Amino acid sequence: MKRLNSQLQQDGAPLELILLIRTLLAGCKEIAFRVSQGALAGVLGSTLSENVQGETQKKLDVISNQILKDTLRESGYVKAISSEEEDDVVPCNPEGNYLVSFDPLDGSSNTEINSLIGTIFSIAHAPQWMEPSDPSAFLQPGTQMVAAGYVLYGPSTMLAMTTGRGTHIYTLDKTHGGFLLTQPNVSIPAQTTEYAINASNQRHWEPAMQAYVADLLAGSDGPREKNFNMRWVAAMVGDIHRVLCRGGIFMYPYDKRDPDKPGKLRLLYEANPMAFLIEQAGGLAHTGSGRIMEVMPTEIHQRVPVLLGSKDEIEACLSYYKAHS
Ligand code: F6P
Ligand code: MN
Repeated sequence: MKRLNSQLQQDGAPLELILLIRTLLAGCKEIAFRVSQGALAGVLGSTLSENVQGETQKKLDVISNQILKDTLRESGYVKAISSEEEDDVVPCNPEGNYLVSFDPLDGSSNTEINSLIGTIFSIAHAPQWMEPSDPSAFLQPGTQMVAAGYVLYGPSTMLAMTTGRGTHIYTLDKTHGGFLLTQPNVSIPAQTTEYAINASNQRHWEPAMQAYVADLLAGSDGPREKNFNMRWVAAMVGDIHRVLCRGGIFMYPYDKRDPDKPGKLRLLYEANPMAFLIEQAGGLAHTGSGRIMEVMPTEIHQRVPVLLGSKDEIEACLSYYKAHS
């Protein structure tokens, strides 16, 4: 089976980017090990602190963040980091050529139930003019990413990654510690009968989303004339992995509870990297009013509504937005 290095070379990734990705993945392998130790290592449960988003930090959130931060800072390739678990940008090497954004442990409440969790990351070029502590360089649209992916800590440890030449899925071979290519050139089926949304938020959605989901629920008795099935992992990384493997639509739409939070998921280290993976696999990634990767960020922890997945189903969903606009 092909190794990660050869696929990255075949996709034309520059050597320094390959070395950076390998460094990042070395951190992820350490996280995979800590996660797998679970209660034996005393790493489960919460800390006494909250992150900048007001979420209680799990011990594993803090550990994973520290592992990635230390690994990337020591590498020398990175000028600055933005992380879900850091209020501000973390300055690294002033000579570094790359910016890395990450959610160190997505879906971390799933650690309590030994369910799916993962690390999501994106990489962009660091502008020459930028001071390492200056957050403004991170405020570029997702179209500027040079690589993005996630590592899923499940029954197998898997990596989904793109450098803009297709999305490839790899499996960690724990016998020698390398990622082997197990699903090259992922192609998401355009049509699907599977959707993912936290339906308990229904009353807060906009009319377009209410109408779309009502028609999914009506199944073969409604205008869609087919039955749909629903799945929700409660970790974006798990839901997007399913969509990459067999198609589907994943939504965390706009909801009207808090105008400062136009969605739940964060643009830089959740929505954008997943949008890059989904688009490179032939799917669509939208906010309901535009392409996710074209959103111009105004702050590093900005939230956006997300609709990601099978092309025809995203288009079907967007037709409801059009009809309600
Ligand atoms: O990181 C935020 C997140 O945990 C995602 O991984 C997941 O898709 C979503 O929130 C789950 O939200 P909820 O708590 O509404 O199910
Ligand atoms: Mn997350």
